[in-house]
Amino acid sequence: MSVDTSAQQIPFGRPIIGEEERTAVLEALMSPQLVHGPRAKAFEAAFAAMLGPQATATSVASCTAGLHLAYIHLGIGAGDEVIVPAQTHVATAHSVEITGATPVFVDCEAETGNIDVAGIAAAITPRTKAISVVHYLGLPVDMTSVMALARKYNLFVVEDCALAVGSSLDDVACGLIGDVGVFSFYPVKHLTTAEGGMVVSRRPEVTASIDNLKAFGYDQNVGERKVPGVYNVMRLGLNYRMNELQAAIGLEQVKKVPGFLKARRENADVLREAMKSVPGIRLLVDGDTARVHSNYCLVGVLEPALGEKRPQIIEAMKQQGIGTSVYYPGPVPHMSYYREKYGTPAEAFPNARRISMHSLALPVGPHLKPAQMKIVAEGLKAAIRELK
Ligand SMILES: Cc1ncc(COP(=O)(O)O)c(C=O)c1O
Repeated sequence: MSVDTSAQQIPFGRPIIGEEERTAVLEALMSPQLVHGPRAKAFEAAFAAMLGPQATATSVASCTAGLHLAYIHLGIGAGDEVIVPAQTHVATAHSVEITGATPVFVDCEAETGNIDVAGIAAAITPRTKAISVVHYLGLPVDMTSVMALARKYNLFVVEDCALAVGSSLDDVACGLIGDVGVFSFYPVKHLTTAEGGMVVSRRPEVTASIDNLKAFGYDQNVGERKVPGVYNVMRLGLNYRMNELQAAIGLEQVKKVPGFLKARRENADVLREAMKSVPGIRLLVDGDTARVHSNYCLVGVLEPALGEKRPQIIEAMKQQGIGTSVYYPGPVPHMSYYREKYGTPAEAFPNARRISMHSLALPVGPHLKPAQMKIVAEGLKAAIRELK
């Protein structure tokens, strides 16, 4: 059952849509081109510029669509294996599975929730074609080690950047470190286009190829055709484009990202400090100046006895008007589809299990003020006290 957070004083997440977005959408709606237009191109350019001078980008219908296209572009399919973190959204694995390749799951680190690099090394076989990483909650994965493994075994690296707008490692934006990176613009993400995503790469040929795959593999797009309606198809592609209304929102949102990130950072800092007085819960580690965290939310892992009572804690927070969430509701290999198909043993992926089953995601989004962070920590303290 979905929870109506509209009445909450402190919702977990809320898109911030202003007059600029509303006006831009109406203008796009009145324009002659609702797809294939200038706004998607302009949004792609603005997003790429935000990541850095070496970035190229192509907009897509969602992060899931972008990940699917990335694997099609890389030629991954039946008989191949792709290493996938267990601690992620199901989209990270589904986008591999849908190609016919096999996702090979690796547990996460207990302290960060990011994929365990030693686990990646142990999972590589002669069939492995790629490593997929998720910058969990926006904390960059140890990409130096991942890229070293990729070079050693000649593997592709796909970065799932759904939570990583603003994340960087040694001054390189996440998404530009591996072969391809994919962002999500789902409503509670760092910026939104309602639904939407962006595929990025430092290699222009990668984004050009995915740009073509997202539009059926046409030889010429609308606007490039000598005779309207006449085209040829060169490759097996899909329709995974972003429309002009979404791109109009994105163009306005991207201008607001520096402010959004600053607000997230400030809120996260205040909440981390306030959480020091809350017993029985351990926050996952923060980033630093070399490993810049995008602060999607703050996840705390409850002590085992409290973890068993997570539903009561969530309910007590809700009663106080404080929204929480869970990232993610179970390790992907334990979800019924994967457990039944691949026979995942119940005790496998213990770190991901611990985080999924016993953690609580606390809000730090830019819809909130630092003073509200103290209310979140106090609310949690009271919820825990009630249980004891
Ligand atoms: C890590 C991760 N990857 C992929 C996705 C899917 O993104 P989208 O809804 O844009 O397809 C999500 C959604 O929350 C996510 O958290």
